[in-house]
Amino acid sequence: MFEGIAVHQWLCCGALFLLAAGVAFSSETRRSCPQPCRCNTVLQEVNCSDGQLTTVPNILPQNTKILNLTHNKIKSLVQQQFQTLTKLLHLDLNDNIMVLIEVEAFIGLQSLITLRLARNHLKIIHVGAFDGLPKLKLLDISRNEILVFLDFTFRDLTALQFIIAADNDVVFISRRAFTGLTSLQELHLDGCNLTAVPTEALTQLGELRSLHFHRLGLTTLPNYAFRQLEHLKELVISQCCLENLSGNSLFGLNLTSLTIRNCNLSAVPYTPLHHLVYLVFLDLSFNPITFIYGNLFGELLRLQELHLVGGSLLRIDIGAFRGLAHFRLLNVSRNLLTTLEVGAFHSVDTLRNLGLDNNPLACDCRLLWVVRRQPYLEFGGYPPTCRTSVQLQGWYFLDFTEAELPGLLTCRQPRILNRKPQEVRVDQGHTVVFECNAEGDPVPSVTWISPQLKPLSPIGRIRALSNGSLEVRYAQPMDRGAYFCVASNAAGNDSMPVSLHVRAFPASSKKNLRLKGWFVFPSASPGVSGDQHISFDVKTLLVAATIGFLSFFSSVSVCFIFMLFWSKSKGQIKHTATIAYVPRSAESSNNGGKGNYMETSRFTMKLI
Ligand SMILES: *[C@@H]1O[C@H](CO)[C@@H](O)[C@H](O)[C@H]1NC(C)=O
Ligand SMILES: *[C@@H]1O[C@H](CO)[C@@H](O)[C@H](O)[C@H]1NC(C)=O
Ligand SMILES: *[C@@H]1O[C@H](CO)[C@@H](O)[C@H](O)[C@H]1NC(C)=O
Ligand SMILES: *[C@@H]1O[C@H](CO)[C@@H](O)[C@H](O)[C@H]1NC(C)=O
Ligand SMILES: *[C@@H]1O[C@H](CO)[C@@H](O)[C@H](O)[C@H]1NC(C)=O
Ligand SMILES: *[C@@H]1O[C@H](CO)[C@@H](O)[C@H](O)[C@H]1NC(C)=O
Ligand SMILES: *[C@@H]1O[C@H](CO)[C@@H](O)[C@H](O)[C@H]1NC(C)=O
Ligand SMILES: *[C@@H]1O[C@H](CO)[C@@H](O)[C@H](O)[C@H]1NC(C)=O
Ligand SMILES: *[C@@H]1O[C@H](CO)[C@@H](O)[C@H](O)[C@H]1NC(C)=O
Repeated sequence: MFEGIAVHQWLCCGALFLLAAGVAFSSETRRSCPQPCRCNTVLQEVNCSDGQLTTVPNILPQNTKILNLTHNKIKSLVQQQFQTLTKLLHLDLNDNIMVLIEVEAFIGLQSLITLRLARNHLKIIHVGAFDGLPKLKLLDISRNEILVFLDFTFRDLTALQFIIAADNDVVFISRRAFTGLTSLQELHLDGCNLTAVPTEALTQLGELRSLHFHRLGLTTLPNYAFRQLEHLKELVISQCCLENLSGNSLFGLNLTSLTIRNCNLSAVPYTPLHHLVYLVFLDLSFNPITFIYGNLFGELLRLQELHLVGGSLLRIDIGAFRGLAHFRLLNVSRNLLTTLEVGAFHSVDTLRNLGLDNNPLACDCRLLWVVRRQPYLEFGGYPPTCRTSVQLQGWYFLDFTEAELPGLLTCRQPRILNRKPQEVRVDQGHTVVFECNAEGDPVPSVTWISPQLKPLSPIGRIRALSNGSLEVRYAQPMDRGAYFCVASNAAGNDSMPVSLHVRAFPASSKKNLRLKGWFVFPSASPGVSGDQHISFDVKTLLVAATIGFLSFFSSVSVCFIFMLFWSKSKGQIKHTATIAYVPRSAESSNNGGKGNYMETSRFTMKLI
């Protein structure tokens, strides 16, 4: 049944229009299909896409469920524009040139579920523009030029679950911009021109599950940026200049999924992450991260997936994923890894997906485990290839059989070169360097073990240098003992002991040392001058006297005399200390009265 107006139009437009529009009309159509739209009465869809429209057609079929106005030249929406379309479910206004939405433009759209306004030229959304949309679930305002979100912009949108507002120029989000969004679950924002995370505004979104920041312009994520988002499960930050995350930046969150992609992180943000014990998915792809250190993921007990594609990874340490008993996927393709050792994983049995392609892999025994686990692993379409093995270059080493491989993926046990017994005797205060060169395939790592059987670090007075040597600076008597150099690689280890003896100084020389400072000391041997010889003899006399007279009185007087001379000798030393260079006499005195010297010094110490 056609209404009069419809019949009129039908006659006007004639057969050509009929051909173009197809079988567009049925008895259910209440109003005509406006030109140049195409109406599908089965789906109750009016498709006005690409129709050169500058305004929304005035007359539209009342029972329309889908209205497609994309790719037109609509510039504004006036008040109560869609008043009659009470059945409309989906309104698509993407790709127009809209600059203005009047207040109450959508009044009457009481069934509307999705509203798309992407790729327009909106700069501001007036408060009240979205009034009268009680069922709206999805609002897409991405790729506009919106500068600010004012207070109460989204009031009354109590059913709204998704806001997509990425790719805008938002500079400011007012504190109560999101008030009223009591059902909002997912929010996509553009942070390119934001100078701060809109923490206050976000606290209004108690039900938020998923927050996406596209292009976050900050370099550091501040502390407590996402507080009060207790229900947030997924946080995605992409294309940003973030260089680091403050220690408490993720405080208050209980995420299961975290993505920080295409940013500028140079290290895995272990500290901000460590409380996220429900985290299952972590994506740090396309960040210039260089290392994954051992034992630092341990608290993320439930972590199943780590994606770090396209980074700058040079090394994944042994124990990197220790404690991760459910770890299922590791994607580190397109990095700079030379190997991935089985010891990195808590247990390789849980691993199902491994992305290791496009790394300069050294094909040696460290990768044998990959071959052995091959039946249980999925390589994402790109199996790993060898870069540094002559025989295997360019081959998918997975193509070789189990029997062939142990001969191809080989390692050579480390061997310490120039092995000769190293036993060094030095005077206290000297610096000693022990060398340890080792060869093997892969190049072995050299560690030094102290006499207390503790590994020595590269910092401190006694340190393991990066070239494999051990340096003991300003040797002290307590440093004496046997040190071990251990060279180890995937194939095994080799070790070599060295021993150090340190001869203590006399106490008087220590004074000298303190006066002259650390820097002068190692070059000049323990300075003992001619003046000291005098004080020396006096001291010996004093010792004799102390032993000779045992009465209390004499002891006291001896003490007194000693003190006198002591202070005198102190003065003398102080005096001579300023005279530069006395090494020759020092050496001769060292060689001469060695035993005497030591004994006396020990005695003096006791007396004090
Ligand atoms: C709507 O019309 C456009 C332009 O004619 C066409 O490309 C598109 O496929 C149509 N969409 C539907 C859902 O019919
Ligand atoms: C409207 O039409 C365009 C193609 O012209 C299509 O891409 C879009 O998905 C349609 N929108 C709806 C809601 O069907
Ligand atoms: C927002 O940032 C983009 C890219 O940095 C810039 O081109 C644009 O001018 C900025 N807009 C405003 C309003 O600051
Ligand atoms: C990333 O950081 C480096 C230095 O840390 C800087 O030179 C570079 O411009 C940064 N890149 C971006 C996109 O912010
Ligand atoms: C983050 O990086 C900036 C610049 O590189 C630096 O000044 C700041 O101290 C870093 N903050 C933290 C918490 O590491
Ligand atoms: C954190 O999230 C997990 C699951 O996502 C949930 O089981 C747990 O109760 C949450 N913990 C808190 C403190 O909300
Ligand atoms: C790793 O990521 C790359 C790029 O996203 C993808 O092509 C590949 O399939 C992934 N590999 C695995 C094992 O998931
Ligand atoms: C290692 O470096 C130290 C100090 O830089 C040097 O004394 C030592 O000779 C070096 N050892 C080797 C084997 O090059
Ligand atoms: C060296 O290898 C032996 C077995 O060959 C092993 O028992 C020992 O723990 C290894 N030592 C180190 C420090 O790796």
